[in-house]
Amino acid sequence: MKLNIAVLPGDGIGPEVTAQAVKVLKAIAMEFNHIFTFKKGLVGACAIDKTGNPLPEETIDICKKADAVLFGAIGDTKYDNDPNAKIRPEQGLLGIRQELGLYTNIRPIIAYEDLLNKSSLKVKQIKDTNILIYRELTGGIYFGKRYLSEDGNTASDTCEYNRFEIERIAHLAFKAAQSRKRKLTLVDKANVLESSRLWRRVVQDIAPQYPNVKLDYMYIDNAAMELIIRPRQFDVILTENMFGDILSEEASVIVGSIGLLASASIGDKYAMFEPIHGAYTKAANKGIANPIASILSVAMLLDHFGLYDEAALVREGVDKSLKLHITTPDLNNKYDNISTTKVGDFIEDFIQNPEETNLN
Ligand code: IPM
Repeated sequence: MKLNIAVLPGDGIGPEVTAQAVKVLKAIAMEFNHIFTFKKGLVGACAIDKTGNPLPEETIDICKKADAVLFGAIGDTKYDNDPNAKIRPEQGLLGIRQELGLYTNIRPIIAYEDLLNKSSLKVKQIKDTNILIYRELTGGIYFGKRYLSEDGNTASDTCEYNRFEIERIAHLAFKAAQSRKRKLTLVDKANVLESSRLWRRVVQDIAPQYPNVKLDYMYIDNAAMELIIRPRQFDVILTENMFGDILSEEASVIVGSIGLLASASIGDKYAMFEPIHGAYTKAANKGIANPIASILSVAMLLDHFGLYDEAALVREGVDKSLKLHITTPDLNNKYDNISTTKVGDFIEDFIQNPEETNLN
């Protein structure tokens, strides 16, 4: 298969982890006789530094001409502490999501057997957790009307959804549930928010089309607690943009490190794959960033194009690296010198030689 992949490494640890993901893709292309080509684009703080724009036109163009986008991370602490900054790195990521119409963000939360003791939660609590979060990505409060009064003392952000926006992601979430444990939990705040009540109505309306899926509902505050106390009760979680952002980051506690969580952002025409972690500026260029989330995003990319054996091999490589403790310091591995590159090299070797790869 020929795939033209746009690579947007972004900021902070983004370039380091993305380099490992590209390495893995190249190894897969070699082993399975695919032709993957890569074209880099600027996004985020580095794009602001070079062009004044967090999402240059050229980057949008590269993404639109590609079959898929591989995204690194975005953000810089210098903007975090400046509430008056008009141009921010995050506008780059939000802009791509909007430009490419990536309305569904899929975030798998899997408690790996070999990492159960890395979580700060009890092993018996998290064992066998396997959740798919379907987060709406191009609507809600992230993209609603904003207001700041002239005196700067009053501000608002609007959370707005329409039926169509809810329906299209809800269908995908129901279908995902059908291929799993057939349970879908809609997380909202329908006891307070009108927009949440719309989510419930729309999801209830389409539920009869999926009679074999058990639909239930949970308020976001309760879900935040249940996710930690009884994560195994969840199969597919469907939720709006901001709730999904918060819940998925919380879920990283189950897995042991946010450096393990991958995601796919899908629209009708384009698809982008990215780790859920941010730029983690203070860890940049130290070789300590965990590349697994980016590498697992590659597995999601391969799945997206029906390259299931290829994706499975990448996941096997990841599993083996975790089993052998070939992990970066966020997972407190028993070796203290395993760098970002070393993890990538190990998975690359595994792809080239699955039978024989060990730590050397
Ligand atoms: C994420 C991130 C982004 C979001 C930021 C960087 C804009 O936290 O992908 O989860 O809030 O969506």
